[in-house]
Amino acid sequence: MSHPIVTVPQRAFGRTMRRDAWWLQPLLVFLGLTTFIVYSTWAAFQGEHYAWGPYLSPFYSPELFGDSPHSWFGPKPSWWPQWLLFSPALLILWAPGGFRVTCYYYRGAYYKSFWGDPPACTVGEPRQEYLGEHSLPLILQNIHRYFLYLALMFILILSHDVWKAMWFADPATERVTFRIGVGTVILAVNVFLLGGYTFGCHSLRHLVGGFGDQLSRAPLCQKTYSCVSCLNRRHMLWAWMSLFWVGFSDLYVRMCAMGVWRDLRII
Ligand code: FES
Repeated sequence: MSHPIVTVPQRAFGRTMRRDAWWLQPLLVFLGLTTFIVYSTWAAFQGEHYAWGPYLSPFYSPELFGDSPHSWFGPKPSWWPQWLLFSPALLILWAPGGFRVTCYYYRGAYYKSFWGDPPACTVGEPRQEYLGEHSLPLILQNIHRYFLYLALMFILILSHDVWKAMWFADPATERVTFRIGVGTVILAVNVFLLGGYTFGCHSLRHLVGGFGDQLSRAPLCQKTYSCVSCLNRRHMLWAWMSLFWVGFSDLYVRMCAMGVWRDLRII
């Protein structure tokens, strides 16, 4: 039986027969990601107002070197070049940033919204050939699984920050007391949302599910795989909620540190 060969005409860039508002989602993604990139870059370069009391902005955690009491290894090292701008956030933000940039969901989202390749399904592309992620530079996206290991460590560190955010020192007596403020809850929600995003990672499914393309028969592996898959089904939602909340957490700590907002005590 012979099959006729049908050639599909290549549409010009942006041309489509779709009648729906296909451009709306890429536009919203473009605006959302641009807003976050501009704010987080500004906040990271600030280098101040990132800690208040026991609260530490997640953009600055872990604070390897810095002037706040949260610093692991003390103030800015003496060997740091004078000409090079210093901010504790710049030492660590590459890790969660790299995790987001190489995420399978975000890749699809920013390929569409930032360089329209493709702008949306069945909409004309700017290029005739498809190179995929098999050659430079996009082959570097495969580094995602290594960023995952770092992201898991950040979840641990940020969880510890929430624990520390429950203990307030009285500036006069230096007595430490247990207290939960609005900021404590904000930082806890941040860990919850980042956890939902990180533990739903596509690469984590591969890690826990088995070997090669075979699902493991071990009950623990299967249970973990189904938990990760469950989170993965809403990965886009977790991605956006955690992105918004991590930015808001920084803003909250910053506003408290600047004296603009007052942290209310809950317990
Ligand atoms: Fe999105 Fe790994 S696929 S975080």
